Amino acid sequence: PDIRPLIAGNWKMHGTAREAAQLAEAVRAGAGAVTARCDLLVCPPFVHIHAASAAIAWQPIAVGAQDCSPHAKGAHTGDVSAPMLVDAGCAYVILGHSERRADHGETDAQVRAKTEAAIAAGLIPVVCVGESEAQRDAGEAESVVAAQLAGSLPDGFAAAKGVVAYEPVWAIGTGRTPTEADIRAMHARMRAEVTGRFGPAGGTTRLLYGGSVKPSNAAAILALPDVDGALVGGASLVAGDFLAIAAAV
Ligand code: G3H
Repeated sequence: PDIRPLIAGNWKMHGTAREAAQLAEAVRAGAGAVTARCDLLVCPPFVHIHAASAAIAWQPIAVGAQDCSPHAKGAHTGDVSAPMLVDAGCAYVILGHSERRADHGETDAQVRAKTEAAIAAGLIPVVCVGESEAQRDAGEAESVVAAQLAGSLPDGFAAAKGVVAYEPVWAIGTGRTPTEADIRAMHARMRAEVTGRFGPAGGTTRLLYGGSVKPSNAAAILALPDVDGALVGGASLVAGDFLAIAAAV
């Protein structure tokens, strides 16, 4: 099936509101050439979402958050709900990033609850999975990722156009990437998992690769079968690099 690629930038915990607006504006200014071929998404920290969306204000580039509460509202100090993100201009939300799984002990069950809340609010979830280096060395990478998918994706995920991002933990921010054969094998396994669970809707679920994607390796990674885009960390903080990755689709 024909799948429109998604190039997503995860800005993580960087920058001031002014820098977020400038980065968003620079992505907007350079996006014309690439949005014919792919969807672009930028995910600022919560407090910069308004500044980034105001700077973009342009349909082909979507804005997303990096987390949301499993609850729609209530006494949950410090949390931000999915309906609030919609109200702030978000169309997507990243959930279950390995940094949240590590820093906040998020479990598959919690990621699943957040993903359900996101879908209920009308957001498109980008659910992250990926093995540690020890798990890969032990030959467990595919079974770990399959288990994370089974536990983190709610029923209705594919019908809601949910996105999966495969990010090997050891490839994040390290400059190291899996071999093309390993990315290909993992994405084939993930495709089998989502079609096995969701049927035909899983055939069009976008499967992103993330972990040290740069302009220099983007074309080779994005050309692999069942790689339907990228989740970009460090390189998404430089508009020219982010757009060069998108141009490699
Ligand atoms: O969400 C993005 C990833 O964690 C990848 O980060 O591109 O800096 O390796 P990176």
